[in-house]
Amino acid sequence: MKSAAGLSFALASHSAHASNVKSSINGSSDQFNLDEVYSRWGTDSAKWDLQLRRFPGRKITAAMGIADMDFRTAPAITHALANRIKHDNWGYMLMPESYYESIQNWTLLRYGEEIQRDQILGATGVLPGLLSAIRAFCPPQSKVLLHAPAYTQLYVTIKAASCIPVESPLKKESDGYRIDFEDLERQLSNDTKAFLLCNPHNPTGNCWSREDLETLVSMCARNGTVVLSDEIHCDFIAQGQHFTPIFSLESEFAERNAVSFNSATKSFNLSAFKTGYIYARNKKLLDKIVASGHSQVVNTLGVVASRAAYEEGGDWLDAVVSYIDQNMRYLENYLATNAPLIKFKRPEGTYLAWLDFSGWMEKIGATQLAASENKNKDKDAPKIHAGDIMERILVEEAGVQLDRGYRFGAGGENFLRMNVGTSRVLLKKALDNITNATRAS
Ligand SMILES: Cc1ncc(COP(=O)(O)O)c(C=O)c1O
Repeated sequence: MKSAAGLSFALASHSAHASNVKSSINGSSDQFNLDEVYSRWGTDSAKWDLQLRRFPGRKITAAMGIADMDFRTAPAITHALANRIKHDNWGYMLMPESYYESIQNWTLLRYGEEIQRDQILGATGVLPGLLSAIRAFCPPQSKVLLHAPAYTQLYVTIKAASCIPVESPLKKESDGYRIDFEDLERQLSNDTKAFLLCNPHNPTGNCWSREDLETLVSMCARNGTVVLSDEIHCDFIAQGQHFTPIFSLESEFAERNAVSFNSATKSFNLSAFKTGYIYARNKKLLDKIVASGHSQVVNTLGVVASRAAYEEGGDWLDAVVSYIDQNMRYLENYLATNAPLIKFKRPEGTYLAWLDFSGWMEKIGATQLAASENKNKDKDAPKIHAGDIMERILVEEAGVQLDRGYRFGAGGENFLRMNVGTSRVLLKKALDNITNATRAS
């Protein structure tokens, strides 16, 4: 438990922090030069270099799929890493308490949530943490519920734990996606031991409201289902929107029956470092995760980078979040004016734009094209989807690579996901290319 003095210090810094947010919002992109187009080619980048392997010989101007960002990292992170590298020894390391303290301070300053040291486990990422938790709570062949569409790797992780992903489709309404609580009620059963929640939701960008979360958590608790809340996108919240951490609920169910998964790696673009953490108010849940064989040891440079990010990277992150907000607005205006075939509603959170391509896919007959390609294929070859055709056309005609929505499960078939965590100069170029391609198609 933090002492009262510690808490008031933290709250005082919180207000100081709030004024930092303001000032960095004013001078954001200049301060960190976020408009710079920073080439990542030839660095084994999954977002960039993998696409050339998938589409050999093609000119890719903008890789806008995999969820990382193209900006140079926060100066404080580079500085901390450079300092650590001066010490030429990479033997086994202890996990420093300062790593956990940086997580506690960040959570308190940003979200007003006090978490105690023994409520945190280290993890080599959010997905490895989720894998351990599913193994801990869900017997093989039991069901894990999740909203659909959902981030592809959530399905993969559930299957890797020998469990069965069961989709509870989100309701698509004219103003966005909603949780279908009637469906949830129907689907919760004796062999559903976990609900895998994503908040903010990848790919729709929903920030689930307090009321949504309370209803979901209490429905799950009544069924004896643990809520595993993946909150990795929580620092990317659009202006005027609000993120509610599962532990800010004043609900006994959330205290007893929920586990959160998070990391500095999404917010600060440190995915290569494989670092994250798990927290739960109920220590018994954490004990079960540890007993499932969960590894808490995080790599040294990941610790150094994450700690520097949480301790000193706040201004950089505020500038980036504000820049992304402007990218989303730019994208919205641009598409409405120049490429109305592509429908888009700005997300409440994340840097991911979930674009409805149905109009364009219908225009080019993507479903029929996919069917005719499948006819000529070996029966064991992977099936071509309409989304594969759309992705390929975008690469070939526009030099832009987006993620295929069908890979996000039910409801994703006619969508592609665009990552706007990049320079607006590149975003504009990509949109100009896409617009020219829509006109030519
Ligand atoms: C919702 C969500 N969870 C988890 C991850 C990956 O987390 P990690 O790299 O920490 O395993 C991502 C990455 O895109 C994500 O979008």
